[in-house]
Amino acid sequence: MDLILSNAKIVTMVPGETGYQVSEPKFIGIKNGKIEAISNHPLHVSFGLHEIDCSGVLLTPGLIDCHTHLIYAGNRSHEFEMRQQGATYQEIARQGGGILSTVNATREATEEELVRLALPRLDGLIHSGVTTVEIKSGYGLTLNDELKMLRAARMLAQERSIHIETTLLAAHAVPPEYKDRPDDYIDYICTTIIPAVARQQLASAVDVFCESIGFSLEQTEKVFQCAQTHGLAVKGHTEQLSNLGGTALTARYQGLSADHIEYLDQAGVQAMAKSNTVATLLPGAFYFLKETQHPPVELLREHQVSMAIATDCNPGTSPFSDLTLMMNMACTQFGLTPEEALRGVTSHAAQALGLQHQKGQIQTGMDADITLWNISHPAELSYEAGIPRVAGRVVNGKFTTGNASPSLSKFSTTSSDGK
Ligand code: NIG
Ligand code: FE
Repeated sequence: MDLILSNAKIVTMVPGETGYQVSEPKFIGIKNGKIEAISNHPLHVSFGLHEIDCSGVLLTPGLIDCHTHLIYAGNRSHEFEMRQQGATYQEIARQGGGILSTVNATREATEEELVRLALPRLDGLIHSGVTTVEIKSGYGLTLNDELKMLRAARMLAQERSIHIETTLLAAHAVPPEYKDRPDDYIDYICTTIIPAVARQQLASAVDVFCESIGFSLEQTEKVFQCAQTHGLAVKGHTEQLSNLGGTALTARYQGLSADHIEYLDQAGVQAMAKSNTVATLLPGAFYFLKETQHPPVELLREHQVSMAIATDCNPGTSPFSDLTLMMNMACTQFGLTPEEALRGVTSHAAQALGLQHQKGQIQTGMDADITLWNISHPAELSYEAGIPRVAGRVVNGKFTTGNASPSLSKFSTTSSDGK
């Protein structure tokens, strides 16, 4: 063993009846980044081993933010002012603002600047208990700028203790140089950007913004076909502002997730159920755009579609870097229970990234990604927001302290070689 977590009360989130219950104190043995053993009895502490006494804290799987646009330059507070004076998100986009204004700022920035600008946002997520973050490109829209964004996203893992998953979102908006030629831009994505990203292994999935102000069903399908040819998974920004059928299309391509989905209908929900596509709910964007159309949560439950929750952290529709705040919003706005909310940022979020066999549960054989909280019941995570309550995180088997310094006195970290 490399690390032992002793006297640990665990909320495992292993599917089944007891996953959300707080366990009796247990002993977790961690080796080579994996959970090697979970025992009711103290584990043998050998020479050089680190042991952390977890009395007084609660352990959950490390939270997973499965949909973010964390890498970008500039901000859009001026557009927020415009929207407060009556302009809509779509109007601003059609006038060349919106996503394209962030594209201009992001193209100007160097890779190092993008990393530096993203760190405060990443720190916000880390302070809300996150151990895995998915990050999309989509503000570059040229081969070099998309590659730059994806490399910057990957660089974050050198700067912080975090697992990063990257997604190519070149089909986010039509760039100015392809104005009125969206099909030519789709060809450029398929012939140039996707092959290069696949070759350099800079993303594991490809996403498309399928919407009237994004790309049509036909264009989305071309990108999906190309992605699959190159061995990349697909996912979609679908049914966010209208019902185009992008979710059913995503499901037809065995998409990992369809995200937003406020305007999804029953046929779309049935298609998701058939393909095991996760419904990723983004309550921050719903709230910030003052949407009134709710995602079909009752239908999703009825058809047993897994629901994930993410921040969608981005400068236009969801400038929020706190995943537990999103859990709260998913409960208050969409009617999820705190248990569904926690599943949405653990096991279901892992599924939305195709990582359900490695992450999102505290179970033997899974990656050792665990968050230690100063709480006594998991519902507190959805109930309160803004309180620094992360006592520590284990990422890939390595323990780091949280930002809630008073809690540190609760831990006695022992090491028989004195480290
Ligand atoms: O997930 N809907 C498209 N993409 C983002 C918004 C991007 C932006 O406005 O900068 C979203 O909401
Ligand atoms: Fe998004």
